[in-house]
Amino acid sequence: MNLKNKSFLKLLDFTPEEINYLLELSASLKEKKKAKLPHKLCPSKSIALIFEKTSTRTRCAFEVASADLGMHCTYLDPSGSQIGKKESIADTARVLGRMYDAIEYRGFGQEIVEELAKYAGVPVYNGLTNEFHPTQILADFLTIKEHFGDLKGKKLVYMGDARYNMGNSLMVGCAKMGMHFVACAPEKYFPAKELVDQCQEIAASTGAVLEFITDPQKAVAGAHVIYTDVWVSMGEPDSVWQERIEDLTPYRVTMELMNTAGEQCRFMHCLPAFHDLGTKIGKEISEKFGIDCMEVTDEVFESERSIVFDEAENRMHTIKAVIAATI
Ligand code: CP
Ligand code: NVA
Repeated sequence: MNLKNKSFLKLLDFTPEEINYLLELSASLKEKKKAKLPHKLCPSKSIALIFEKTSTRTRCAFEVASADLGMHCTYLDPSGSQIGKKESIADTARVLGRMYDAIEYRGFGQEIVEELAKYAGVPVYNGLTNEFHPTQILADFLTIKEHFGDLKGKKLVYMGDARYNMGNSLMVGCAKMGMHFVACAPEKYFPAKELVDQCQEIAASTGAVLEFITDPQKAVAGAHVIYTDVWVSMGEPDSVWQERIEDLTPYRVTMELMNTAGEQCRFMHCLPAFHDLGTKIGKEISEKFGIDCMEVTDEVFESERSIVFDEAENRMHTIKAVIAATI
């Protein structure tokens, strides 16, 4: 398997075998890290991290992964560079491509990260766009493999806004890996038809099943994983909160829903999550709309069935594998 110089922009660009290879490499790098064995696989290489939106996990994962691989890393925050304001993406790509061996980008439209990759001359990694969050899916799939042994045939139900980065990427990933994906939301939150058609075509060759269901009780029966994400994503206006709360409250992940799914079912979330009033936005929304949690109850989030922190840790091991495989 040779992924050298390949960008990691979306899972649609990768075969199931390549995704499996990245997951296996992640698991072996995780073992090395746990055993405290050095794995400086990219000595004296460097990576630029561009963040036009905020981050905890993705930034830290890239920074720790690159340090473990023996690399130098530069973080460019949402306001600290010329990108997009005084300098185009194409020019930025050509400058950073002369100095760095790889570039990570988190920001808005998928076309931006695709353009960066077109001009950079070095591998570019998508650290989240409005449309896709592919490094998150690698972490999610490594976590599912750790808990269930295998991906094939496993049923993952995504509750909530399924037409944004997480819903889209999970659908693509499940289609590629022969899983059973269910988007559960009001119809207007289902992924775009063009992407669904593309994924159905992939599913036809991998044995995956893709379903779109509006009734949460029906959707979750037999699920291995119930997955959710915030109801309002980074970059969306505050004005959408009211509509989202009205539309998506019936899709909140509760213990009753977990029990409907069955004993085997685990809870996953890319994080950050609004499960209590411990955040500034959580408190503001609570005061305005009279709710004490959003996409998941605190009971589910804190329960033994929640594997969200395994998932968060795996961001680092999987991002390390992407860098090591492509540089
Ligand atoms: N899940 C995830 O991407 O988290 P951050 O926004 O903290 O990077
Ligand atoms: N849908 C969320 C994912 C955060 C990791 C967002 O884009 O804000």
